[in-house]
Parts: sequence; structure tokens; C-alpha cells
Amino acid sequence: MSGFFDRPRLLLAPMAGVSDEVFRLLACEHGADLAYTEMVSAKGLSYANERTRRLLNLGEGESRVAVQLFGHEPATMAAQAAWVEETLGESLAYLDINMGCPARKIVTKGDGCALMTDPSLAARVVSAVAGAASRPVAVKFRRGYAVGDETCVDFARRMEDAGAFALTVHGRFAGQMYRGRSERGAIARVKRAVSVPVVGNGDVTCGADAASLMAETGCDAVMIARGAQGNPWVFAQARAVLEGRPEPPAPTVAERIAMAERHARLMAERCPEALVRMRRHAMWYVAGVPGATAARGRFNYCLRLTDFLDAFEALREAADAHGCLDDRPARRG
Ligand SMILES: Cc1cc2nc3c(=O)[nH]c(=O)nc-3n(C[C@H](O)[C@H](O)[C@H](O)COP(=O)(O)O)c2cc1C
Repeated sequence: MSGFFDRPRLLLAPMAGVSDEVFRLLACEHGADLAYTEMVSAKGLSYANERTRRLLNLGEGESRVAVQLFGHEPATMAAQAAWVEETLGESLAYLDINMGCPARKIVTKGDGCALMTDPSLAARVVSAVAGAASRPVAVKFRRGYAVGDETCVDFARRMEDAGAFALTVHGRFAGQMYRGRSERGAIARVKRAVSVPVVGNGDVTCGADAASLMAETGCDAVMIARGAQGNPWVFAQARAVLEGRPEPPAPTVAERIAMAERHARLMAERCPEALVRMRRHAMWYVAGVPGATAARGRFNYCLRLTDFLDAFEALREAADAHGCLDDRPARRG
């Protein structure tokens, strides 16, 4: 992977319950350079848990992925990193360690962002994984743990010294969860403090956001999470702006419905056991579309592919009746 960050990169973020093979495929088709798996429990892998292992299934034709592991035991993390590497072979671009998840059930076990409160342990996790795997190891973390206590700069230095080859910074404190704005200054301060590539993350929802994040922080790559939900086009928009081309217009209502249909078909074909996830994706695709409220109520009851296709068709008819299939509504409220 040496050289991967030599030019500006666009990354699909790890998102638990979201970043499955279909979501990754659509992001990469629209211009993401690399997609992350959702976070995978090293402990779960060590118990050979089938549900956990399934998170590592790659899509047909998915040639490269970054796998994110979470856990706080250096030995378990190292052993599972080696296993992931052996299992995925050449398809594994690099490993990432989750040190940013603020969810209660994660941090109370000492995982995710709890590691920011124990930088020595975090460093031991990174060096153990780096020692066990031949692929590079990245770390993703936040501005800090407790609100107001910015520790990311020192933490970043520790992670670099421990062997991380790249660092992703989300500019919120764990205590904020997803509230407030992601602080770009924190990303810029980390970038100035380390010599490894820094990935900026937080609140990128269009091409202009990606470009301004890079310009304001000096970051080497942009990672997008919520801005890609129901919106794979964000990668094409960001790519255009980073390459100095005009930002393509937002998709039309008809294009959104068509993409939602394709997403549902791919889910049914490739991960039918997770088709229920399509409910959330469907809601994201239709946010802001006239008739969306009725459609959302309907999505909640969809079980089979045909249920989703019928709901999309009803929405298309409603939008057509309003004469707005070619409108390009803003995505967020
Ligand atoms: C539904 C959801 C699931 C997430 N799961 C993960 C995860 O598994 N690992 C991780 O490091 N971050 C996870 N995140 C955080 C995102 O990767 C990202 O850091 C955060 O959403 C900020 O980026 P954004 O403003 O582009 O959404 C998750 C976020 C959301 C909304």
C-alpha cells in the first residue's frame, strides 16, 4: 500500500450495519478509491463466530477492501489480524483499528474510543497488530474522549510511533456521539503533528465539503460515512471537485428511485439474509422526495424483494403524478 496516499483519496467509512458488500460496491462504482468493512470484533473472530466471520465476505469482483477490527487485547487483535490477512489474501488492502466508536456497549468493554483513554494500551494493540500482519495497519479515532479534552494530537503521535501507517481523525469527542460539528481544526493539528498520511472525516456530504476539508486541514484523504447513505453519488461529486471539474448535479428523483431498486436487487441476490437492512437504505434514498413519508411507512413492512420493488413503483407513480421525477431535491432537511 505504500504510495496509496500519494494522491488525494476518497474512502467509504466503516459503518456497522451499513458497510456491507453491496454498499461498498456502489460506493466504489461511483468513485470511492477504497471501502472499509464495518467494524469486526476480534473477540468474535477468535470464537470463530459465524456472524462475525460473515462480515468479512467480499462481494463478487470486490478486489480490495480495508478491514476494520475492534478489540483491546493486543494478543487477540494480533492473532485475528493475522487470520484476516491469511483469509483475504491479496484482497486485503490494509487493516484498520477502531479507536473511535463511542457506543456504550463498546466502550464499557474497553474497546473503540475507550482506547483513547489508555494510549499505552492503544499503542500496544497497534504494535502487536503491526508485528503480526504484513499488511499496513491504520488507526481511526476521534478528537478525544471527554467533551472538551482534545487528546488527538498526542494520541496520533503515539499511534505513529507504535507503527500505524495512516491515521483517520473524526473531529468530534466520543461524548458528543454525532452531535455538533466535526472540528476541522483538530484534523489539521493532527496532520501537522505526524508524518504519516492523515484521513479527514466528519460531515462531508458533497464534493465542495470534501475539497474544503482537504484545503483547510491539509489531510491526504477524505472519508465519508453518513453523506454516502442513500447517496453513492457523493463520491463522484467529490472526485470531480478534487480533480478541478465542476461538481455533477445531485441525482433526480427518478435516478434515486432507480438506484434504490438496484440496491435492493443486489441485496436480494448477494446477501438475502440481510435484506431487512434495505429498509434503512430505502429511507435514505428517498429522503426529500415528494411522497417519501408514505413510502417510509411502507418500507417498514417490507420483507421480500418484491415488497421493496412495489413500494418503489408506488413512489415513482406518486412522483410522476406530482410531475417531479426530474427534480433534484436537496437530500437533507
Ligand atoms: C450507522 C453508523 C455506523 C458506524 N459504524 C462505525 C464502525 O463500524 N467503525 C467506525 O470506525 N466508525 C463507525 N461509524 C462512524 C463513521 O465511520 C464516521 O466516523 C462518522 O459517522 C463521521 O463521519 P460522517 O460525518 O461522514 O458520518 C459509524 C457511523 C454510523 C452513522
